[in-house]
Amino acid sequence: MLSGKHILVGITGGIAAYKSAELVRLLVREGVEVKVLMTETAKRFISPLTMATLSKNPVMIDFFNPENGEWNSHVKLGLWADAYVIAPATANSIGKMAAGIADNLLITTYFSARCPVFVAPAMDMDMYKHQAVMTNMETLQLYGNTLIEAETGELASGLEGKGRMAKPEVIVDCLKSFFDAPFLGKHVLVTAGPTYEKIDPVRFIGNFSSGKMGYAIAETFAQQGAEVLLVSGPVNLPVFHPNIRRVNVVSANEMYEECVRLFPSCDIAVMCAAVADFTPEKIEKNKIKHTNDLTLSLVKTPDIAAELGKIKQNHILAGFALETDNELQNACEKLKTKNLDFIVLNSLNDSGAGFGGDTNKITIIDRDAAVTRFPLKSKKDAAKDIVAYVRKLINNQ
Ligand code: C5P
Repeated sequence: MLSGKHILVGITGGIAAYKSAELVRLLVREGVEVKVLMTETAKRFISPLTMATLSKNPVMIDFFNPENGEWNSHVKLGLWADAYVIAPATANSIGKMAAGIADNLLITTYFSARCPVFVAPAMDMDMYKHQAVMTNMETLQLYGNTLIEAETGELASGLEGKGRMAKPEVIVDCLKSFFDAPFLGKHVLVTAGPTYEKIDPVRFIGNFSSGKMGYAIAETFAQQGAEVLLVSGPVNLPVFHPNIRRVNVVSANEMYEECVRLFPSCDIAVMCAAVADFTPEKIEKNKIKHTNDLTLSLVKTPDIAAELGKIKQNHILAGFALETDNELQNACEKLKTKNLDFIVLNSLNDSGAGFGGDTNKITIIDRDAAVTRFPLKSKKDAAKDIVAYVRKLINNQ
């Protein structure tokens, strides 16, 4: 999958630079031709000799070789590469990449590269969550780069938190799934977020869904080659991948209309939205006055997943079940009534699962009632499990 690929590995000056030696070794073992770029500071953390030996190519640090004047062309390097991995990426280098400051060969090559770029940050936990660094990481993703998020654990500072560079194997897996692109040519519909059901011009009935799970699923499918239609209720989340087209909706009825329209041209649908089950029978034209008690009359919203379950042909259709009691039984019931291929169960009884947070604990149940339980993980990692499950179903089709 990676064999024969040309990959640039950029090493910036952080303690995690020692892990880049392992990264390069793994890539070379996969048959990749690796060229290493380093910043001046990176040399203090790991020797160019080590990296040159492991990559089997001279390491490039300066724009030219002061011994013989040989020119290291960032433009040529950028064109040579099938992918550029910057690992570790320090807050400093991330800041320069986001701001357009090209003051060394590694970053100049980044600006010249036409290939996909993968950025694996590594830094102290407080730096990682500093607003300026977070904004820069978001900017890099908006520019189309893939962020390989740092892990949580013990840091070089002795503190515990998020900032450890992703393990070399995780970075290699990320490159593999990019080049493998198992969902290339597939069209995927994902619903995400809450719906808002208007009561009057200023009020609505909503729920606490943040949209994070659905957005993570959309990103994961896109990273693996799919064209994704993300039908999203009102959430405050950015879309990064260029293969994702977001369709914004507000109410359950709007979400229904869009899904029914888009589903026939899709191969896969994952219904992750927390759709309101009821909507006011009538939307008041004027703001309801604060006088007496108020009784609202609510009517049922259309069940989008169930409707898609009725019209589905060769599609793979997945739903979610957020339960508080009789979890497995309720989820199985929903799987059947909505004619889903599998259902992802979250229980609000599991701490760290459900709305709002960045983690989830999922259980997948299929049509044969086979149950696969997953441990508590980040929503991004849970999304990878869900997408891998879809892949398994397609391979067995
Ligand atoms: O029946 P319940 O709302 O618990 O089912 C949850 C699943 O059904 C989720 O996949 C959700 O996105 C979907 N759903 C839907 N339309 C509704 C209600 C739920 O698509 N009106």
